[in-house]
Amino acid sequence: MTAGPSYVLGTSAGELERLGRQHQIWRDDTLAGWRQAGFGPGQRILDLGCGPGFAALDLAELVGTGGRVLAVDNAEPYLAHLQLQAEDRKMPQLATVTWDLNTGRAKRTGLRANAPPPLIVPAGWDGVWCRWVAMFLNDPEALVQLIAQALRPGGRLVLHEYVQWDTFALIPGGEAVARFVQCCIGHWQASGGDPHIGRRLPELLERHGLRLVQTRSLLACERGDGPKALWLQDFLQCYSPQLAAAGLWSPQDQQQLESELQPARRRSSLWVTPALVEMIWERP
Ligand SMILES: C[S@@+](CC[C@H](N)C(=O)[O-])C[C@H]1O[C@@H](n2cnc3c(N)ncnc32)[C@H](O)[C@@H]1O
Repeated sequence: MTAGPSYVLGTSAGELERLGRQHQIWRDDTLAGWRQAGFGPGQRILDLGCGPGFAALDLAELVGTGGRVLAVDNAEPYLAHLQLQAEDRKMPQLATVTWDLNTGRAKRTGLRANAPPPLIVPAGWDGVWCRWVAMFLNDPEALVQLIAQALRPGGRLVLHEYVQWDTFALIPGGEAVARFVQCCIGHWQASGGDPHIGRRLPELLERHGLRLVQTRSLLACERGDGPKALWLQDFLQCYSPQLAAAGLWSPQDQQQLESELQPARRRSSLWVTPALVEMIWERP
């Protein structure tokens, strides 16, 4: 199961489950961002790069049956999962569309019967939610253009992306973690992504006519048993086999990583997350 040749994290069942755990950990911050942007009942919201749709289901709950959520991704297995969830929860307000955000084209015949035509724009959407997606795209400007055209005047975008991925650290020590972080960055850049994409987005969004309403840091620093520290440890565990398969992570690297993690669980260690930022933008 693949999302497309360039999607580096893949769409295995294990990755789907990790995205679910990840959403639970970040859910309060996510809901706070939506509240700040004024997302609410009756609105029409796009979820771009929705993955298996853990956030899209929350958005559908928020807008209610009087609203509409269109969840967009190019990974059909993820959208199939989301559709089943939406059917189980009786959420007719939630539709999915298989769409390549790099090219702005529907993928094969992936459009679902309950989805609108592939005309996301112009459609006067009240809001757009987009998290951890721009960093994987070869052409983030295509995404920005789509957002700028999709929003109605006064409509708002909530973005969660990293401005610097290698603030990810285990302190003290953490040499193998630091090496792992650099391997991830190299792996994603080699597939056309940019893990520090948050640095380029403000200029792109402004160029396409959007205005920054507010921003806040979501960088966290926690003890080893804090939820965001556990999120980082989950990622180290889930992603090391992929780095190894790509020939970037040796059994020796893995051994060193594990020997760092053992004492980190006992000692008073700090886990620092990649520098994630929330940005809320508006189409004037
Ligand atoms: C890390 S996941 C984030 C999923 C979701 N936004 C979340 O916060 O849980 C990145 C998502 O981007 C999607 N993606 C990557 N490249 C894409 C593309 N070219 N077009 C559409 N979706 C893409 C992947 O399929 C995946 O679902």
